[in-house]
Amino acid sequence: MDRIVVLDFGSQYSHLICRRVREANVYCELLRHDTPARLLREIRPKGIIISGGPASIYVEGSPRPDYGIFDLGIPILGICYGHQLIVDRFGGRIRKSNVREYGSSNLVIDDNKDLFSNIKGNIRCWMSHSDTAESIPKDFEVLAHTDSSSSAAIVNRNKKLFGIQFHPEVLHTESGTEILKNFSFRISEAAPAWNMKDFLESSISEIRNKVGRDRVLCAVSGGIDSTTVAVMLHRAVGNNLRCVFVNHGLLRGGEEELVVQSFEQVLNIPLIVVNASERFTTMLRGIKDPEEKRMIIGDEFARVFSDVASKHGPFQWLAQGTLYPDIIESGVSHGPASVIKSHHNVKGLPKWLDLKVIEPLSTLYKDEVKKLAENLGVPTQLLKRHPFPGPGLAVRIIGEVNHEKIRIARESSKIVEDELMAASWYNKVWQAYAAVGDDKAVGVIGDGRLYGHIVIIRVVDSVDAMTADWVRLPHDIIEKISNRISNEVEGVTWVTYAVSSKPPATIEPQ
Ligand code: XMP
Repeated sequence: MDRIVVLDFGSQYSHLICRRVREANVYCELLRHDTPARLLREIRPKGIIISGGPASIYVEGSPRPDYGIFDLGIPILGICYGHQLIVDRFGGRIRKSNVREYGSSNLVIDDNKDLFSNIKGNIRCWMSHSDTAESIPKDFEVLAHTDSSSSAAIVNRNKKLFGIQFHPEVLHTESGTEILKNFSFRISEAAPAWNMKDFLESSISEIRNKVGRDRVLCAVSGGIDSTTVAVMLHRAVGNNLRCVFVNHGLLRGGEEELVVQSFEQVLNIPLIVVNASERFTTMLRGIKDPEEKRMIIGDEFARVFSDVASKHGPFQWLAQGTLYPDIIESGVSHGPASVIKSHHNVKGLPKWLDLKVIEPLSTLYKDEVKKLAENLGVPTQLLKRHPFPGPGLAVRIIGEVNHEKIRIARESSKIVEDELMAASWYNKVWQAYAAVGDDKAVGVIGDGRLYGHIVIIRVVDSVDAMTADWVRLPHDIIEKISNRISNEVEGVTWVTYAVSSKPPATIEPQ
């Protein structure tokens, strides 16, 4: 199948380039920035994109590709750092700019023969650089410019080399997708033959090659990611897969029943169910720090898996539903990216668990996983369920986790979910839940005074959990939720609504 390759020089957007090309139905993969030209000759991509990155080309030790890629005769598009790399390689000069260009700029298109085909005049483009081309190589022409970059897009048509200073992959660039399509179809002549069905088939054969006759343990939560992984693994290795569902006592109401029923009756995948509520709540006693809670839960999960492995094993592999945003936020991508924050399940497994990890979704975004899950026949009741974090209600309970706060978070969340469903809002939002902390406020319940808990309602919208906005729910729904929680959930006096977006907040409070 025709493909485009992105060489990852560490930009936070490298994977987004891949995703945009895939959205145009061309198979696209991200490879290390220093992938040998010899390997690329074997893979025979129709086009190569050199990504942006945090380095400056004139700094010693800044990352370089194998320069042999320029002799392959394959069309190349350099973006930002990639553009500067091309300029530098072919005799132009990059220097620190007097004017840093961050954000939106007006791009004037001077030549719309190929890369800017069907795009006329001026477009808004998104820039993020502080280095600029002082001079471009002599056999290159300018395709577009901005006020502060006289050569914001350049070309050497003989060598099929294109360079652009801005980022076409971000949605803030007008016609950005059109530019990437022009590179893929018009310049590289790649056929649009890639879709989720093909991804699924190639992933399944990849899993088979990797795993062979080994046995795989797959931890499922009922969430879309782990369910998708389980169904893929089941297709790939059949009975050599065992799925385990751990009830850590921090689940949403009715979760265990829903997961058991979906796996056993709908998907026909046998499930080992472990009730470990006491183990987890005992380990969490007295712990207030969010990161410490996450560590404890992660370690305890590993111990439960180890118990399951000794009882039902041996297993050689553990399958996980890690997604690309988890990896990119942890700075563990293919390239020299900066670390933003350590995220969730990417920390790795303890060595003593002695299981190799298989993560078939690690190149996908959440919305892509949803499409995959639909292809795999994952039941709608799981597909439509909002994402739920692995550490469960522990990250929605601020301060110490105890039975009372678990009950309040669980019962209040159920009310939030039920009311959104009743008002046909549940499927319109990304996540909706109730959190609780140690803050209390005075209320009057019946004739008496009650110094009770404050519950925080959080309803957010998002596309891929990288950013999120709080949802402007109609006031009557908020009112109904508030009334029901203070009437029905014992020990609650006040209900508040969280109006913070991500960034600067995160979706979960802990
Ligand atoms: P944050 O709070 O980082 O959450 O904005 C982004 C998305 O990830 C979910 N989340 C987790 N999922 N394990 C998971 O499987 C975790 O530890 C975890 N923490 C947060 C969160 O619900 C949101 O959808």
